[in-house]
Amino acid sequence: MSGTAAAAANLDTVIRERRTTRRFLPDKPVPRELLDESLELAMRAPSNSNIQPWRLFLATGARRMRLGEALLRRATSGFPATAGIPESFAVLRQQLGAVVYGAMGVARDDAEGRRIAQLRNFDFFGAPMAGAVCMHRDLGHADGVAVGMFLQTLLLALTERGLATCVQVSVAHFPDVLREHLDIPDELRVLCGLGIGYADPNFPANQLRIPRNPVSANVVFLDD
Ligand SMILES: Cc1cc2nc3c(=O)[nH]c(=O)nc-3n(C[C@H](O)[C@H](O)[C@H](O)COP(=O)(O)O)c2cc1C
Repeated sequence: MSGTAAAAANLDTVIRERRTTRRFLPDKPVPRELLDESLELAMRAPSNSNIQPWRLFLATGARRMRLGEALLRRATSGFPATAGIPESFAVLRQQLGAVVYGAMGVARDDAEGRRIAQLRNFDFFGAPMAGAVCMHRDLGHADGVAVGMFLQTLLLALTERGLATCVQVSVAHFPDVLREHLDIPDELRVLCGLGIGYADPNFPANQLRIPRNPVSANVVFLDD
């Protein structure tokens, strides 16, 4: 295999290997050099006029624990189940919920079991490193695209290094808590949360392969 083909095969594997982790090993920290390498790669993401709009705040140790405790305290008195998903997309969320909660052993009609499982979002599913992905308030949709490109590149680089990740919009429902505990300045908008760590290999929901649409459902070719 040529060098390029080997690299491509590796990229394919990493893309397929990345998945959302919903239980981390809380006592196995993220090695700083692996994080630094991954961040250097993610910084290569493209952006409009190269403004590099992504801003990331990551906490470990006591700060990380205080953040999780504060979010959990707030979420215990209520959090939105749908996180702003429009009605026309709700069916996909239900399908995902059936698969994920099924793998967690929570029955379809077990409302309290689901609530408890959902609450684990607010402790970043036990990730030893947790934080928020932000962008300047004055920036728009195209810049949000660039933040997404940064984030996916980061997830892939971390995956390649054996680390696991969870992107979380759920925690962004409490931006004030994230701001306070992560020292996020006012001019930044909180887009989502991020947990990083090592996956618990004994948690069945961590093995899930969530299906995707056929390409034809999402891509239109025109040639006339
Ligand atoms: C912007 C964004 C927000 C997400 N928010 C959450 C979340 O709050 N909680 C959660 O458990 N998963 C969350 N996810 C993970 C998705 O559910 C997951 O990516 C999707 O179901 C596909 O599964 P996979 O990542 O394992 O391939 C989020 C993913 C993205 C990209």
